[in-house]
Amino acid sequence: MTTDFELRTRPLMPGFGVEIFDVDLKTAGSDARQKVVDLFHANGAILLRRQDMDPDDLMSFIGLFGEAEDHTQTQFTLPGYSKIFLLSNKIVDGKPIGAHNDGVGWHTDYSYKEEPVMCTMLYAVEVPDEGSDTLLADLCAAYDSLPRERQAQLDGLVLHHSYQHLMSTRQFGRMELSEEMKAANPDVFHPLVRTHPADGRKALWVSTGTVKGIVGMPDDEAQALIDELVEFVTSEPFVHRHKWHVGDILMWDNRCTLHTGTVFDDTKYIRLMHRLWVKGDKPF
Ligand SMILES: [Fe+2]
Repeated sequence: MTTDFELRTRPLMPGFGVEIFDVDLKTAGSDARQKVVDLFHANGAILLRRQDMDPDDLMSFIGLFGEAEDHTQTQFTLPGYSKIFLLSNKIVDGKPIGAHNDGVGWHTDYSYKEEPVMCTMLYAVEVPDEGSDTLLADLCAAYDSLPRERQAQLDGLVLHHSYQHLMSTRQFGRMELSEEMKAANPDVFHPLVRTHPADGRKALWVSTGTVKGIVGMPDDEAQALIDELVEFVTSEPFVHRHKWHVGDILMWDNRCTLHTGTVFDDTKYIRLMHRLWVKGDKPF
């Protein structure tokens, strides 16, 4: 469902993402809420500032976009809210309450699943004065900027994504997975060029971390192509940098973006973000 109701907005960068003004999500009516959803599907990302959301407000808001997804590391969810994941360096009673520096490195969330999450929402509760930015890359603009012949070369390629591969990398301490974790996370295969179901726009849906190779291509050739494409889609013209303030809600569409966090001085600052996911469908 779409609505003619208009909201005041401005692009996050030309042709990508919108900041939405004058909406208090706690009290917004159904027309405004629907418009926020429409803007999300059409623009790849939305930003709303100065929001005051308790966990129930966040659950009610995320429900507008679909069904909330579970999180892999269940020890870092908010007590009583299994769909709200904490990103934090905060220690309470000697224990970390959230995942620290999770998501540093360009990626798209849950890409090791058959049905990766459709979108990711972050709500800023406590933010460092510097560092801890979130960068978003517009994969549709990257694809559209390629010459037609190059698009045709990439169009039919299929990426091999693997959770086991991700966890075996240095970033995750070359972790050996239990047999249960291996069985719960089998390797999956997704198109390199992904079509957005809302309007058919195409995204150059490359990633790092979970990507192990390209089907039918020798490993060294595949790795060189993946490296080249990641460098291209995350180059300056396609990247928006978000600097956080308390109360910001940033949501991005994983079907057409890559994202990364950046580090911060965790000896000086505390970071606490609430992360929510919405279930997605099989990429095509
Ligand atoms: Fe992420």
